Amino acid sequence: MNAHVDRWESHPQHFWLRGQKPEQPVRFDEELGVWNVYGHQEAVEILSDPKTFSSNVGRLLPIEIDESFVEGDLTQLDPPDHRKLRRLVSHAFTPKIVADLEPRIADLTYELLDAVADRERFELVSDLAYPLPVIVIADLLGVPSSDRELFRKWAEEQLSGGRQLSVVEPDEQQWGELDAKLQSFQQIVDYLREHAAERRRRPRQDLLTQLVQAEVDGDRLTDNEVVNFANLLLVAGHITTTMLLGNTVLCLDANPEQAARVRADRALLPSAIEESLRMLTPFALTYRATTAEAELDGHRVPADQILSVWLGAANRDGRQFADPHVFDPTRDPNPHLGFGRGIHFCLGAPLARLEGRIALNILLDRFPQLRTDPDNAPTFMPGTDMIGASSLPLLTR
Ligand code: HEM
Repeated sequence: MNAHVDRWESHPQHFWLRGQKPEQPVRFDEELGVWNVYGHQEAVEILSDPKTFSSNVGRLLPIEIDESFVEGDLTQLDPPDHRKLRRLVSHAFTPKIVADLEPRIADLTYELLDAVADRERFELVSDLAYPLPVIVIADLLGVPSSDRELFRKWAEEQLSGGRQLSVVEPDEQQWGELDAKLQSFQQIVDYLREHAAERRRRPRQDLLTQLVQAEVDGDRLTDNEVVNFANLLLVAGHITTTMLLGNTVLCLDANPEQAARVRADRALLPSAIEESLRMLTPFALTYRATTAEAELDGHRVPADQILSVWLGAANRDGRQFADPHVFDPTRDPNPHLGFGRGIHFCLGAPLARLEGRIALNILLDRFPQLRTDPDNAPTFMPGTDMIGASSLPLLTR
């Protein structure tokens, strides 16, 4: 499976993509002052115990983040605030709402692929894997999908340049990067604030309207909560699915025998997608902060420490997965952490899985000879947090 990684580039910190094992499942990084967690069991332990391992990591960073940027960001909340907000937004994101999107996702995929149907080559990310999820999430939220190049710019600015968080005071270059991120954040927040204000005046049938009208225990969401949650959905809700689509194509391309099985028996596609999430985990890194002393793999981790939980590495842990570097679309069980675990388990997982299944099925039907282009290598997201192609040229015959 490492075929594509041997041929193409991977981020130096993503050593597991090159078939390497971590020296230890948990290791303190002296330079950054954070704990790296690579083991599956240890990652599960952390994600399952929000009391000891809090999502409010910002309080330990050497930079001040304005409170208004964090309000309503589910990913940074702990119980009971997390429970309250998650319950509320789950009402707006029910299995029925997701299932009802199926025909729209299929139509969009056909439409996007019609545009490249007669070509000898196309670029998967810009022709399908980017526009599809962003149009779906923009429609759901109720913001114009024609603004998608703006969303892409903002999402890439917020997510892709990522370097690992640390307790070390940023240097000048890092301050510059942070500043650019905050500016981009401000732009998207301003954009969403305008749309949310418009929905308060003129409600519509969309998620943004549901968010401005929603009540939890008699309380309405504040403007900041609405806008930050909408931002989370818009950003987390598309780039990751873009990565999933590209990564699954890469996994199949690197494993022709398995690809032939999946092509012949489409009932295998959902488990091939799960295996792709394990092998090339799009959301590769998340963080937690200790609220009390904890023990992990025999290490004593004091309170107020940052833990980098490398989901991508945990998904290749040989103690959990037999032949961890082999792409096996029939792997069962497959307890990968691609969507996280515990109370923060990805809210959009059913949508991402649905988009993956529909789009990849149609893609495989349309292009029986689909393969990577030996003369045009894919490019990959540059940061530590994400794993996936940012461009993926393909040949169709
Ligand atoms: C393949 C695509 C996706 C991947 C790999 C992915 C991955 C993840 C992961 C790993 C987490 C947990 C983070 C943590 O515990 O710190 C998460 C949370 C979340 N994801 Fe996704 N995601 C995907 C698609 C989506 C989509 C399509 C949406 C929305 C439409 C979405 C919305 C969210 C939200 C709101 C959370 C926060 C949940 C919480 O904190 O309670 N994600 N995602």
